[in-house]
This record gives sequence, structure tokens and C-alpha cells, in this order.
Amino acid sequence: MTLQQTHIVAAGLDRMSPQLMTTPPLLTMTTISRRFGDVIALEDVAATVYPGEVLGIVGESGSGKSTLLRMMNLEDTPDAGDYRLALPGLSGNLFALDRFQRRMLCARQIGIVYQNPHLGLLMGHASSGNVAERLLIAGERSFAALRGRAREALDASEFPLARMDARPSELSGGMQQRVQLAKAIALEPALLLLDEPTTGLDVSVQALVLDTLKRLQRDRAITMVIVSHDLGVIRTMADRVMVMRRGRVVEEGLVDQIFQDPQHAYTQQLVHAKL
Ligand SMILES: Nc1ncnc2c1ncn2[C@@H]1O[C@H](COP(=O)(O)OP(=O)(O)O)[C@@H](O)[C@H]1O
Ligand SMILES: [Mg+2]
Repeated sequence: MTLQQTHIVAAGLDRMSPQLMTTPPLLTMTTISRRFGDVIALEDVAATVYPGEVLGIVGESGSGKSTLLRMMNLEDTPDAGDYRLALPGLSGNLFALDRFQRRMLCARQIGIVYQNPHLGLLMGHASSGNVAERLLIAGERSFAALRGRAREALDASEFPLARMDARPSELSGGMQQRVQLAKAIALEPALLLLDEPTTGLDVSVQALVLDTLKRLQRDRAITMVIVSHDLGVIRTMADRVMVMRRGRVVEEGLVDQIFQDPQHAYTQQLVHAKL
């Protein structure tokens, strides 16, 4: 560690890059706890996401990553905790919103891609229809506009447009993830959540989907939270990384710092197992 790095760490500034510190966060979660019976899925978790950045959440299976992402998508409510998004017209703890308010907020401002496409898509409906459904919620009623915007979102997700009316059930895993992605970005959400978006895909397909995500992020500066148990995926995608273990955040830092100089024994073990 250089002297300068030592000063940064000592000042507690190592968790953010300098340009991020000047901008208020888009997402702030504090003191999130969630139990399922005897299982502690999350214990006093805090998370912050700045506009335009990619936060990676990594940790072994069962560490609470998906539960936390579901909270960010307002699909689940913690036993305790506070969640804020710095968006116009929005204030207070979002967990206080009722089901309808949550649905409207998520439809417009939050996109999500699940590992399992069955969670995100109607597998027997046209891919274009799956994307259009999202636009319908936002009040779009003209068929031509719906189709045009669905086409645009599918194209941005690098989905082959010749197949836009195919059902997801007829498509490969990689293509299904592109349909989920198109649906998630169709309304240009403030926040894009990705839960193991490439897990289970062939390595070559995985690389192509990650390329698309990176390109989208670069071109549109979409704020993203990506969850993966795969350090390679996190290293490729994230600006900042949060390491979770047994429902707690054990370490947090810029991606290079986490991979080159992990502080926590668990992170060291994860990183070295991968190298
Ligand atoms: N709906 C649920 N009911 C009961 N237990 C759950 C539920 N969701 C998650 N869990 C438990 O919470 C813990 C964290 O799960 P999860 O967030 O899915 O972890 P990860 O995504 O990191 O693999 C696990 O022990 C899991 O079994
Ligand atoms: Mg999970």
C-alpha cells in the first residue's frame, strides 16, 4: 500500500471514488434486517449507490444477496430498516409505501433482471409483448408506439429483432436474459437491479450478455446493482463492491481495492480461491 493509499484508508474515504463523494447517493439503505423463521437472512445491512455507478454484491450462496435485491425492488419488506431513493416527488422510507404505490414506483423507476427468467417473464407470450406490458403500465396505449418502443428496448439489449415475436419459452437462455433486460430498461429506470443475470449460461454466452450490460452502462450511465456469487462477473462489471457473508456486509470498497488488497479474511479467501 502506498503512503497516499494509507492516508485515504485512514480517512475512511476508501469506500468511494473522489467524483462520487461530491454527488448525493441515489439509493440509501440502512439497518436492514430480515429473518425467515430461525434463519437470519440479513442483519443490520446498509447500502449506498451513487448515480451512474455499478455496485457489485458478491458472496457465497445463502449470504443474503437476493433477499437484499428483492428489498431494493420493494418485493419484500424487512423486519426493520430504511430505504430511500433520491428521485423527484419521492420522500421518506419506501417500505412505508403500500402495494399499489410500490408497483407504480417499481414500474417506472426500477428495472430488474432475475437469474430465473420465469420470475421476470411470461414465457408463453411474445417477447415483444413482454416488453410492451411494461410500457402499458406506464400508460402507453398506442399499438404502434408500444411496438416501436419495445423494438427499441430489445435492440438496445442486442436481441435479434427478427425474433421479437418469439415466445421466451422458444428462446435460448441468453436470449431470455436479453428479453428480461429489454423489459427492465424499456422505461429508462433510475435503477437497474441484476440478480445473477448470467449464472447458468454458457461461458461464451455469459461474456456476450456482460458485454451488452457494459455497453448499456457506458452509453446510458444507468445506475446498476449487480448480484453474483461469481467474482469474475463482479470484477468485470462493478465500480464498487460489497462483500456479504451470512447476512452481513463484511467488506466494501472500490473494485480494484477489493480484488488487489482485500482486508477481511473472508474476502481474501474468496479472491484467492478464484485466482
Ligand atoms: N422466502 C424465504 N423463506 C425462507 N427462507 C428464505 C427465504 N428467502 C431467503 N431465505 C433464506 O435466507 C438466506 C439468504 O438467502 P438469499 O438471499 O437467497 O441468499 P443468496 O442470494 O446470497 O444466495 C438463505 O438461508 C435462504 O435459505
Ligand atoms: Mg441469490
